[in-house]
Amino acid sequence: MKFLLVVLLVFVIASSSLCAAEYSTFDVVSYGATGNGQTDDTKAFVKAWKDVCGATHQTAKLVIPQNKIFMLQPLSLKGPCKPATIEVRLEGTVIAPKNNGDWKFLDEKKKWIEFSDISGLVIEGGGLIDGQGAAWWNIADISVKPTALHFHKCKDVILRSMHHKNSPKNHISINTCNGLEISHVHITAPMQSPNTDGIDISGSSNIFIHSSIIQTGDDCIAINSGTSFVNISDIFCGPGHGISVGSLGRNGDDARVENIHVRNCTFLRSTNGVRLKTWRGGRGYARKIVFEDIKVVGVMRPVIINQNYLGVVDGISAVKISDVSFRNVKGTTGSDSAVELSCDPYVGCNDIVLDHISIVKEDGGEAKASCAGAQGTCFRCNPIVPCLSDSHLI
Ligand SMILES: *[C@@H]1O[C@H](CO)[C@@H](O)[C@H](O)[C@H]1NC(C)=O
Ligand SMILES: *[C@@H]1O[C@H](CO)[C@@H](O)[C@H](O)[C@H]1NC(C)=O
Repeated sequence: MKFLLVVLLVFVIASSSLCAAEYSTFDVVSYGATGNGQTDDTKAFVKAWKDVCGATHQTAKLVIPQNKIFMLQPLSLKGPCKPATIEVRLEGTVIAPKNNGDWKFLDEKKKWIEFSDISGLVIEGGGLIDGQGAAWWNIADISVKPTALHFHKCKDVILRSMHHKNSPKNHISINTCNGLEISHVHITAPMQSPNTDGIDISGSSNIFIHSSIIQTGDDCIAINSGTSFVNISDIFCGPGHGISVGSLGRNGDDARVENIHVRNCTFLRSTNGVRLKTWRGGRGYARKIVFEDIKVVGVMRPVIINQNYLGVVDGISAVKISDVSFRNVKGTTGSDSAVELSCDPYVGCNDIVLDHISIVKEDGGEAKASCAGAQGTCFRCNPIVPCLSDSHLI
């Protein structure tokens, strides 16, 4: 009996120390970060990241503790890392330099915080990211303004529960990632702040964005070229410019977007609801796109396809738009317009399905639908969309 107990005890001790060895924690404060909101804490973050990324444990945790404000210059948190999973516990606040003249960029690509070449990353903790963007907003040249949070070449990333505000430009950009989930984030910037998209996705696949509130001065979510297999659900958007596929095909680009599913989203007083926009002169396609269970309240242009976006230039080419459905879109428009389908007369939009559309003006009056160059069907549409065939007539 005694022997058994000893064996058991040894086993318990051994296994608990084994567990401890599977896990390690690195706190930015123990790397010299002050968290006083004034001192530049970038060096401490970079040092801590180096140890987290090189840790010989299955999981390594980077802690950004609560009740502290860490001022950070642009920084690049790069992999590949040794741990299978890195957890970033963002419990406190990180802020950018307040004056735009004080920013020290790492290279000509304007970014504030970048995660790149990482597989297995979880960022959570209920903290705040504050891009202090106000100083940038009145600069007209978009190319000089930084993105706040950038994910590049990443795989299996989870970003959840945080408040992210006042980016100089877009708040989150996702580029060349495969497998990324964003949820329970609250993104805010003033309605008048230009180019402050919530989330931009390009060149990426298997992206899931849900259960979040996005209120900014530009697109809530924009899905750009090279992107496929995106699910977006349970998003509250507004103010802002809505959820958009595009703009695609700028400067003759060959754009490809497919398998996009947007479900159960609410738009409050946004300029657009759900939108596809492609530039005249572009190539490629946007196809297999579904928007469903969409609620609009006082949205200026609730449903839009614009294949001649900023329609200028040379060509008769355009990004091909096909197999796009808008199902169960209900609510009010803040203008006269409920549905606008504006497709190129040569390339056109095919297999467009509108099903259960019910949009009226805020005073209850009848709203308008306009339609050019689109081929498809409208089931139970109020208002009737003229160039689509009405299911009642089939
Ligand atoms: C998107 O939703 C579909 C259908 O529910 C599911 O099969 C797929 O795995 C989801 N993809 C992502 C990236 O969430
Ligand atoms: C729709 O989204 C809201 C959050 O915006 C959520 O509370 C609700 O449960 C969702 N409904 C469905 C059917 O998914």
